[in-house]
Order: sequence, then C-alpha cells, then structure tokens
Amino acid sequence: MVIKKIEFTNINDVVQIHLSYLDQGLLSSLGEDFLKDFYYALISNNDAFTLVAYKGKKVVGFTSGAINVNQLPIFLIGKLWLRLIKIAIKRPLTIVSLAKLTFYPSFKNHQKTGEIFALSIFPEARKQGVGKLLIKKAKNEFKKRRISRFQISIRDTMQGPNTFYQKIGLKKVKTVSFLGDSINFWQGKI
Ligand SMILES: CC(C)(COP(=O)(O)OP(=O)(O)OC[C@H]1O[C@@H](n2cnc3c(N)ncnc32)[C@H](O)[C@@H]1OP(=O)(O)O)[C@@H](O)C(=O)NCCC(=O)NCCS
Repeated sequence: MVIKKIEFTNINDVVQIHLSYLDQGLLSSLGEDFLKDFYYALISNNDAFTLVAYKGKKVVGFTSGAINVNQLPIFLIGKLWLRLIKIAIKRPLTIVSLAKLTFYPSFKNHQKTGEIFALSIFPEARKQGVGKLLIKKAKNEFKKRRISRFQISIRDTMQGPNTFYQKIGLKKVKTVSFLGDSINFWQGKI
C-alpha cells in the first residue's frame, strides 16, 4: 500500500470514490463537476491536503483534511463562484443547504484543531488497514502545519465508521444535533 499526495491525474478517481461511497453528504449532492472543481481547488490551498491510497496502480481510497477550516468557505466561494452560480440557477434549494452548512460546528472550531472532512475506501480494499494508514499519514500533514489535535465528524447512525474511529484510538468528544441529524465528533492527538 502506498499513500501519496493527490495529483491532478487522480482527481477523477477521488471524485468517483467520493460520489459512490460518501453519497449521503451535501458535497456529493452538488454533483460530479462541482466535486472535480472542489478537489482541483483544494490542491492550491496550503491549509488543505488530500492523500490518495494506491494498491499497485489503482486508487483504492483517499482522505482530505484542512486546518483553519473557518476560512475554507471563503476560499471555496472565491475559487468556485461560477460553478456555485450555475448550481444556484438550476437548484436553488441546494444553495440554501450549502448556506446552512456554514453553521456546521466545525466552522466555529478552535483554530488549532485540524479537520478531516472526507475519508473513503473502495469496498474491496476495506478492513485491510487502508483507512488507519490514511489517518496516520493525515496526522503527519497536520503536524507539518503545527497542529496538535484533529477531529472528524460523522452521523451517529453510521455505525461502521463510528466503530472505526473508536478502534483507531479517537475519542468521542461531543454529539451535536445539526439539521435533524445527531453528529458525533471524534478527536485525536497528533
Ligand atoms: C470507515 C472506513 C473509512 C474504514 O476504512 P478501512 O480501511 O476499512 O479501515 P481499517 O481496515 O483501517 O480498520 C481499522 C480498524 O477499524 C475496524 N473497522 C473498520 N471498518 C469497520 C466497520 N465498518 N465496522 C467495524 N469495525 C470496522 C477494523 O476492523 C480495524 O480494527 P482492528 O484494528 O481491530 O483490526 C471505510 O469503511 C469506508 O470508506 N467507509 C465508507 C465511507 C465512510 O463512511 N467514510 C467515513 C465518513 S467520512
């Protein structure tokens, strides 16, 4: 298993894994073209990172994280405004959901807490340590950015990922109700 930083040539693979296995998230609902622009834009943001797991030449998983997440919406609006206008014209309700998302507790986070906002492994590659290794490498990325703790949030109903976060040593620090869902926040030290 090899973990590398995302390259432009990986964006399609990452977007397909995101759309297929993080399909309940708001980012997926914005569509394939938005997600391609999203991961493309993140490459140019030094506060953010996307790491890709390879088995041979095949991309089997990825994770994305960032520091200073409260500044991420402004960065993304600056980079993706044209795409967002197109979505607003076609699907105004999606933009309302996006606006609500800016009230997500992570955006009020302490600046010294990094955030993992996507982690997904291709089904055939699960339970082989890929997720754990991606989080380990993500910790290195936070360390490089002088961050000493990080967090991940997930719906309480998603038993598998909640068990995974517990098994890799994260601590559940709070459960917050957001737009009708109970969201667990898991934290880890670097
Ligand atoms: C959750 C997910 C990232 C785990 O990745 P993974 O590569 O399968 O996890 P690992 O193999 O590194 O597992 C590490 C430990 O967690 C356990 N674990 C992983 N997935 C589990 C699950 N669904 N249920 C129970 N335990 C699980 C493993 O058994 C292992 O335990 P061990 O150390 O006792 O052997 C993966 O299942 C996934 O991509 N799910 C779909 C997308 C998703 O829900 N992402 C999280 C939201 S952002």
